[in-house]
Amino acid sequence: MMNATLDLKSDFPILAREIHGRPLAYLDNAATTQKPLCVIERVSNFYRTRNSNIHRGVHSLSEESSTLYEDARETVRAFIGAGDMREIVFTAGTTDAINLLARALGDCTTGGDAPFGDETRYSSDAQIGEGDEILVTGMEHHSNLLPWQDLCRRRGAVLRVLPLERNGTLHMEDISRRITSRTRLVAVTHVSNVTGIVNPVEELVRHAHDRGALVLVDGAQAVAHMPVDVASLDCDFYVFSGHKMFAENGIGVLYGKAARLEELPPARVGGGMVTSVTLESRREADLPLRFEAGTPNYPAAVSLAEAIRYLQRIGMQRIREHENTLHEYMREQLVKVGGLTVYGSAPEHSGSVAFNLDGIQPYDAGMIMDRMGVAVRTGTHCAEPLMRHFDINGCIRASLALYNDTDDIDRLAEAVRKAQSMLG
Ligand code: ALA
Repeated sequence: MMNATLDLKSDFPILAREIHGRPLAYLDNAATTQKPLCVIERVSNFYRTRNSNIHRGVHSLSEESSTLYEDARETVRAFIGAGDMREIVFTAGTTDAINLLARALGDCTTGGDAPFGDETRYSSDAQIGEGDEILVTGMEHHSNLLPWQDLCRRRGAVLRVLPLERNGTLHMEDISRRITSRTRLVAVTHVSNVTGIVNPVEELVRHAHDRGALVLVDGAQAVAHMPVDVASLDCDFYVFSGHKMFAENGIGVLYGKAARLEELPPARVGGGMVTSVTLESRREADLPLRFEAGTPNYPAAVSLAEAIRYLQRIGMQRIREHENTLHEYMREQLVKVGGLTVYGSAPEHSGSVAFNLDGIQPYDAGMIMDRMGVAVRTGTHCAEPLMRHFDINGCIRASLALYNDTDDIDRLAEAVRKAQSMLG
């Protein structure tokens, strides 16, 4: 086993903690990542020197805050390879971004023939309605399933599911039959939050576009782990969360091609998304502010920009290689321990490995592992359909980030052995 290439633990103060008298091996990064000192200090400095509401005042603090917020938008734009800052909408996170999109695509009463101001500019063709189909996959996180279930229920659209192979990969063989002329949207995760399987997103986008369907990619488990370029993916929408990429909680991104976002009504209304208002009507702001009603979480946007700069200093390709090496090592070590089942196997993985110990409940194993200082997630991982696919009630998930090293994996293997010896 070659030594993993990155050595970043000292950038993350919390990783120096002890848990039950043992050094922390933090392997729950798919749930949330820890924060580097530069992000913690950036946020603290922001509140100590700059804080003021954005886009709402001419005073210096407000202008400085507004500039930092828009700079953060530009940082995100460049990071994901979007062509235009108007295509970057800040949200509260991935779930919020998908809910926003689901409302805008089909559940928004302000669209089409609304009697106000200029909403008639929105294309009713862009709305998803009766008989239209939305295709999700059998491995989606509930966040990329429930908003589409609701939209279908409310608008009389039909939810279709791209099934999985036994190994947990997408059943791609008859994809051109599953995406039909009625399919309006394909909603797919870039990387499974459970198995770490990387999906063939480019191929799905090609098939969807051939049929005139849009594609939303849930990038929550991808952006902190591999280079992502929305222009080359050619997806119509891409969403992700700041807290899973070393930034604060409460910030996320909805990327949308400008032409697609232009067609959509705002879904949420309120302060900050209008240029003028009367008691009866309004004139809405242009992209992206039209989708950012209310005071956005601008301090968290500043933290996101700092986290991105941190990632860029290391380099996304190096991070990908480092995590690939560790991922392979983790699978090898678990197989070596034996007495367990690993779920999901694909040509490409990232981040997570899901497994169960023979005859042992995942929750019980998780408790023992915690006593050993090893933090993993146990349960259904907000992906119950995937649990049913594997015919399990839940599993253990160990998930990586750039600061993990082979020592963390060795500690994982040791903790698994301990759980087996105590509970097996
Ligand atoms: N979506 C996060 C996870 O998979 C919370 O753990």
